[in-house]
Amino acid sequence: MKKFVINGGKRLQGRVEINGAKNAAVAILPGVLMSSGVCVLENVPDIADVNSYIKILEHLGCQVQRDGKTLTIDPTQVHRTDARTEEVRSMRGSYYLIGALLGRFGQATVDLQGGCPIGERPIDQHIKGFESLGATVAIEDGATISSAEHLKGAHVFFDVVTVGATINVMLAATMADGQTILENAAREPHVVDLANFLNTMGADIKGAGTDVIRINGVRELKGCTYSVIPDQIEASTYMLAAAGCGGEVEIANVIPKHLESISAKLIEMGAQIEEFDDSIVVRSDKRLKACNVKTLPYPGFPTDVQQPMTAVMTIAQGKSTVNESIYENRFMHLDELNKMGALAVFSDRIATIIGVPSLQGAKVRATDLRAGAALVIAGLMAQGTTEVYDIEHIDRGYPHIEEKFKALGADIIRVEE
Ligand code: EPZ
Repeated sequence: MKKFVINGGKRLQGRVEINGAKNAAVAILPGVLMSSGVCVLENVPDIADVNSYIKILEHLGCQVQRDGKTLTIDPTQVHRTDARTEEVRSMRGSYYLIGALLGRFGQATVDLQGGCPIGERPIDQHIKGFESLGATVAIEDGATISSAEHLKGAHVFFDVVTVGATINVMLAATMADGQTILENAAREPHVVDLANFLNTMGADIKGAGTDVIRINGVRELKGCTYSVIPDQIEASTYMLAAAGCGGEVEIANVIPKHLESISAKLIEMGAQIEEFDDSIVVRSDKRLKACNVKTLPYPGFPTDVQQPMTAVMTIAQGKSTVNESIYENRFMHLDELNKMGALAVFSDRIATIIGVPSLQGAKVRATDLRAGAALVIAGLMAQGTTEVYDIEHIDRGYPHIEEKFKALGADIIRVEE
């Protein structure tokens, strides 16, 4: 069993380099399957979900070489369209294999996904999009089975703003006949990053980053070299840790525009934020003030940062509220924060947190990826020793988190029992 042991109460000082975005990488990696040549991907994060994706690509017939943050992937020998492995079942982003394999080979059998237990997470909008393009889709024997003679461009209006379905249907439509229009599309930076990657390979996608995306299908995608965007959620996590612990931290290799909703809240809470071209400095030297947050699709406050934000709210002066509008079950970490002395309650999608002067170390359990990040921040802010268990959730999305915090002056170690 692995855990983090944290002796909290230290100010954070220094510079932390942010890695490539998990949620962009897990969309771009399956996109490589659509290429007729070798792709070189740079700034790929060293996280468990990427390692799982590499195994899946190898299982399908790709040759993958890794050199630090660079992956060279040769998809020219792909010989199967069934992805039914433990790695597929271990994460959410593996559902992008459906769009990529269906788009390139006209068929895909992909095991149903795992990922964080934060709500129901249906895939009806993905299926609706694939069917609009002319595919037949069935869920049988624990897998999504899809096929199409020819995918044909279509007009798809999503009922909800969904990152997953926007990306998946974009992948499938990239090599379909004719034009596809995606309306009410998600605008998240990783949607734009995937579109940029596909366009670099020769796709014709316009409008990514707005709520209408137009895709003119192309016959072939060629190999390319592409660098994954910085991870806005990893960056936000370090921004919140710096604000919560106090100190001065430069968050480097970021796109400040992607972090505006976080910067605005931290300024409202009393932290100082200074933006540069590709970095942000967070300074905090007094107790933060409470604030209210509602999670929304981009450019609103991201649901993935909600949990780390609640950790900081536990010690902010006054009453904070959180309205979680995306997922119905993303407050499980509050019970763990309460074990550390927090005063947090929730009912349905609303949480209320009364700030206490300080948290005390305790033994806590990460129930999902961002819950784990919240508990690490809480442990860094708390007096005494915190043990965070089930940290494999954290390893899915945060490269070398304990080393990065250690370099900022924190006392955190990974222990394998
Ligand atoms: C992606 O999940 C991310 N995962 C999540 O990050 C993130 O929380 C989420 O987008 C929102 O930003 C990956 O990119 C791998 P959605 P996804 O489709 O694609 C509903 C993290 O911590 N919906 O945007 O599953 C759905 O229930 C993870 O890194 C439907 O109703 O999210 C939710 O309420 C966790 N039908 C809302 O839409 C559908 O067919 C948004 O979901 C699809 C979604």
